Amino acid sequence: MTRVLQISDTHLSPAKRHFAANWAPLHDWIVRQHAELTIHTGDLTVDGADVEEDMRAGAALMHALPGAFLAVPGNHDVGEPGNPHQPVNAERLDRWRRHFQADWWSHDLENWRLIGLDSMLCGSGGDEESRQLDWLERAMSTAGGRSIAWFTHRPLFIESPDEADTGYWSVKPAPRKRLLDLIRRHRVALVATGHLHKWRDTEVDGCRYIWCASSGFLVGPDNQPDMPGEKRLGAVLYEFDGANVSVTMVDVPGLTTLWIDDVLHEVYPPRHAA
Ligand SMILES: [Fe+2]
Ligand SMILES: [Fe+2]
Repeated sequence: MTRVLQISDTHLSPAKRHFAANWAPLHDWIVRQHAELTIHTGDLTVDGADVEEDMRAGAALMHALPGAFLAVPGNHDVGEPGNPHQPVNAERLDRWRRHFQADWWSHDLENWRLIGLDSMLCGSGGDEESRQLDWLERAMSTAGGRSIAWFTHRPLFIESPDEADTGYWSVKPAPRKRLLDLIRRHRVALVATGHLHKWRDTEVDGCRYIWCASSGFLVGPDNQPDMPGEKRLGAVLYEFDGANVSVTMVDVPGLTTLWIDDVLHEVYPPRHAA
């Protein structure tokens, strides 16, 4: 049996310390788990997309954790397709890769192949997006009978695989369809994501979709539409055993329930087109 932790949406920054108090309890919990691997599913930083020091400090914290560490970037780490202020681009991807080596990866354990995907490339339309898709096809087709689990930041959909564009909250319908085709073709068993700052465990068409809670903050109704899932902070424990897995949502002791709505104007001030 192999223990793996998923943490997400820590939103850490040495300059903007609004959620910093929740790092110590999360760190202490990780140390107590004696897991083989910790996976961070993005929005590791407040603004690594533009602030080198956020990325440097965040990487230092993660690389000091016990056990192996892997991460995929969130929109606040590398920008996102279609964002006029912070598009995902070569400079931002390069910053992430300098500090975290890779934004997509595969890692085999037990009878599983874990695949980390950079969802910020989905719909970005450049070489990087097709390079990741080519690599993903290979990583899946060479899995050799292993069960497959994906880890990425942005969920593929909120309520249903064929829903329309949900805007900020999930992958756009065109890139989503390509990923869902792969999920069906290769019978992907599990897709684990972050971004929503909500906990959910649901099964759709034979694939289990896990929304990992944020350990940083919750988002109130003024800034997040009504959608499924539970607003609570925490992390996820996976116990992989042969071709099986058990998934447990964990309330991490000592986390303070913080709300972005109270500090949004300081942490993410509104931007105006120049
Ligand atoms: Fe986030
Ligand atoms: Fe996000």
